[in-house]
Amino acid sequence: MQILVTGGAGFIGSHTCVELLKRNIDLIILDNFYNASPKVLDRIETITGKRPALCVGDIRDEALLDTVFAENDISAVIHFAGLKAVGESVEKPLLYYGVNIEGTVKLLSAMDRAGVRKIIFSSSASVYSDEAACPFSEDSLTGCTNPYSWTKWMIEQILTDLHRADDRWKIVILRYFNPIGAHPSGLIGEDPKGIPNNLLPYVAQVAVGRREKLGVFGNDYPTPDGTGVRDYIHVCDLARGHVLALEKMEELPGLEIINLGTGKGSSVLEVVSAFEKASGKPVPYEIKPRRAGDKPECYCDPEKAKRLLGFETEYSLEDMCRDSWNWQSKNPFGYEQPE
Ligand SMILES: NC(=O)c1ccc[n+]([C@@H]2O[C@H](COP(=O)([O-])OP(=O)(O)OC[C@H]3O[C@@H](n4cnc5c(N)ncnc54)[C@H](O)[C@@H]3O)[C@@H](O)[C@H]2O)c1
Repeated sequence: MQILVTGGAGFIGSHTCVELLKRNIDLIILDNFYNASPKVLDRIETITGKRPALCVGDIRDEALLDTVFAENDISAVIHFAGLKAVGESVEKPLLYYGVNIEGTVKLLSAMDRAGVRKIIFSSSASVYSDEAACPFSEDSLTGCTNPYSWTKWMIEQILTDLHRADDRWKIVILRYFNPIGAHPSGLIGEDPKGIPNNLLPYVAQVAVGRREKLGVFGNDYPTPDGTGVRDYIHVCDLARGHVLALEKMEELPGLEIINLGTGKGSSVLEVVSAFEKASGKPVPYEIKPRRAGDKPECYCDPEKAKRLLGFETEYSLEDMCRDSWNWQSKNPFGYEQPE
């Protein structure tokens, strides 16, 4: 069995490739390096002793997709490739709908032509409505506030319709909560280009001295310390969830939506404090106004992942901060060192 991993050079994709290779599952990465470095391949090889096959290209390139399916013996696809910055999606909706939706439709069409009808799709907790209450279960009300989240929501709908039309499809939609941390080796991790959009890379860049201080958006939410609460999950736990989904896919009824999170919320200030402890570095911060569209709290009910996949998280918030710092301190500028 060979797995096509779109976006396999990215943050979650690279960690999932390591998990697959560790289990001797053969794979090929399709990535255009829009938000990744080719150096990831060397690092994956150092960790696993195996170099994944690579196809450099765009998921919107139909001819390339047909060639990839024709030339390889692919049995399933794990589809990470896409754009993920919420703020950028508000400014450039056509780019986001183009890459995420058009890219996914072209990928699914190429899979159908090739007779490969098994896919694991990266969705997001951001599809849950502001009206829904925590913990979010897979049946909680959905509804989005920005183009990025709408692309995830719409792709979920496309996959649902596809499965309804042709029940040969096996589809697992994984709704991730907040992936952080890094591989314990410190060789691969999150390497955002420009100003980080997510909390952890920002905190790590402050601790390593690349940025002066963290902006904390709102300290008057109805949460224990007033700052936003999120369900942080170690990226290696998340990666393992994909391998379990792949292994269980055949037994699942056809299409399943599954949350991947710890089920536990941590506030921004709890994360800052855990990171300071793990790194031994101060993380100065400044309270700023709330950001439009931010939920006060977002954490999952992890019961379905446990029931269907046997998935339970292993890493604590302290582990996540330790591994994040290990990656950041060994690679202060990510994969590309400045001249
Ligand atoms: N990181 C998160 O917080 C989070 C949360 C929920 C869902 N997700 C989803 O999980 C997936 C992976 O996220 P990530 O954090 O690893 O992001 P990432 O940006 O690190 O990885 C995405 C990868 O896709 C590649 N890519 C982008 N456009 C492409 C295209 N047109 N053709 C081929 N490759 C392309 C990028 O180069 C990158 O390697 C994304 O779909 C994202 O929306 C991420």
